[in-house]
Amino acid sequence: MLNGAEKLRTAVLVSGGGTNLQAILDAQKSGMIRNAEVSLVLSNNPAAYALQRAQKAGVPTVVLSRRELGSQQAFEREMIRVLDDCAIDLIVLAGFMTILSEDFTRRYDRRILNVHPSLIPAFCGKGCYGLRVHEQALARGVKITGATVHFVNEIPDGGEILLQQPVSVLPGDTPETLQRRVMEQAEWILLPQAIEMIAASKLNQF
Ligand code: GAR
Repeated sequence: MLNGAEKLRTAVLVSGGGTNLQAILDAQKSGMIRNAEVSLVLSNNPAAYALQRAQKAGVPTVVLSRRELGSQQAFEREMIRVLDDCAIDLIVLAGFMTILSEDFTRRYDRRILNVHPSLIPAFCGKGCYGLRVHEQALARGVKITGATVHFVNEIPDGGEILLQQPVSVLPGDTPETLQRRVMEQAEWILLPQAIEMIAASKLNQF
């Protein structure tokens, strides 16, 4: 729990490029995030560029490979050890491409946030992540998409919704152009906002 810290100790979990991590680090630097600090970046992918972003910002990093650890259970056990060692209060999934078990999500009930690049309940759930979300949105022909920040529970993309932001689909969009617009106009704004909102409310409970 909170360990008497003045700021909510936050772990950001990543797998890839880490543009959402960058948005969080920038928001912390600018003072937009005041009540939380990124204390740890954890990646399940040793090649994730997000790790370099963290190192550049002076944030400790840990890499845990699910394959090397042998099972999802062993992977989560190790994650819990690392998160507890770091006295983490809040976990932020920022492009973390692993589905977490019910045991894990229950342990951190209402303490795990995720950003998803669509307006949930559209284009979400198991197997719908990253660029695939935008491919599906374009295939369905929607004119509005967006991003959602939600609490994480045992149902993929099924936890309580905290913030959503709509984004227009434009003629000629490709999955890549749409992904970029959704990031710029929604994800990179919503995720820092949600972290600050949760941090401020959790710190007020003490
Ligand atoms: C982001 O668009 C994020 O919303 C998405 O992966 C991308 C990661 O980019 N996450 C999901 O689809 C999770 N269901 P980033 O590594 O540059 O932040």
